[in-house]
Amino acid sequence: MDFHNVLINWYLQNKRDLPWRKTADPYLIWLSEIMLQQTRVAQGMPYFFAFTKEFPTVNDLANASEEQVLKLWQGLGYYSRARNLHKTAQFVANELNGVFPENYKSLLKLKGVGEYTAAAIASFSYNEAVPVVDGNVFRVLSRYFDIESDIALPATKKEFVALASELMPKDNPAIFNQAIMEFGALQCVPKNPNCMVCVFNDSCAALQKKKVAVLPVKLKKTKVTNRFFNYLVLEDALGNTLIQKRTSKGIWHNLYEFPLLETDEIVGFDLVSKTVQNDIFPSYTIIGIEECAETAVLHKLSHQHLHIQFWKVKIREKIRNGVSANELKSFPFPIVIYNFIEKQEINC
Ligand code: ADE
Repeated sequence: MDFHNVLINWYLQNKRDLPWRKTADPYLIWLSEIMLQQTRVAQGMPYFFAFTKEFPTVNDLANASEEQVLKLWQGLGYYSRARNLHKTAQFVANELNGVFPENYKSLLKLKGVGEYTAAAIASFSYNEAVPVVDGNVFRVLSRYFDIESDIALPATKKEFVALASELMPKDNPAIFNQAIMEFGALQCVPKNPNCMVCVFNDSCAALQKKKVAVLPVKLKKTKVTNRFFNYLVLEDALGNTLIQKRTSKGIWHNLYEFPLLETDEIVGFDLVSKTVQNDIFPSYTIIGIEECAETAVLHKLSHQHLHIQFWKVKIREKIRNGVSANELKSFPFPIVIYNFIEKQEINC
């Protein structure tokens, strides 16, 4: 039997019941595909339900504020996805009368929509015969055909798009694309796949050559930088604190945080208290500083490892533009800060 027939039969018997598979609405498909980039289905699903409840149409999303969108996205990470999502919703609502582009080529022009997402929307919504190539597809095809090309290279992407295109039944691209991704997510998993029960175990080249564990090949290792953040959690006699919007480009753009002292290493009480009093808040009378935990929190992003210390800084004066504990929770924060705020109600 052909590769696509085996794959699609497997899919029909094993697929998960996922909400974005019950629709051809490009708004819902787009939303789900942006959410599922670099995110597991189990993590993305509650966000999909929350967004579709709050913003049932692209016009509803366009009319929201960026802050509302970031708040609902809180915890999903890679926040540029949320900012682009919002901008694209405004573009579709205002410039395209609320109607999504109807083919791969014009979908590609939308902000935040790359080759993978354009192919997913074009095939799932419009049945256009364009293959999706994501991490799952790289894994399935590199193993099945024993392809050793480095998947970090753009030329390899082209090679796999061409191969997937050849394998795809042109009369049913949507189901083929769903099936190959699902097969990568459930059966042909990165570590220790159970090849003994695989529908391809008599034809998979990697299995025959004992190369399952070494494919796909990815040579370029992402370089990780360590950063050391000291968050200054001010508190005045009213119990108010101070937060600021992170306007600089880079991580957490437009999310909120406490005043930040960034250092070159993990630092102690002496350096923090001196810097806070002399350089950061010279006009406040500081009546106490204490670290909120014994050890720094390690928060791992794709390219950065953040070592985060929270310092409670008690102030005699009333904080200008202070925010109460109640108001605090309505702002969008990086999840590591939000978790601290939640916990802080109990201790520190
Ligand atoms: N990951 C990315 N897109 C997906 C989809 N449509 N279904 C399941 N997992 C996915």
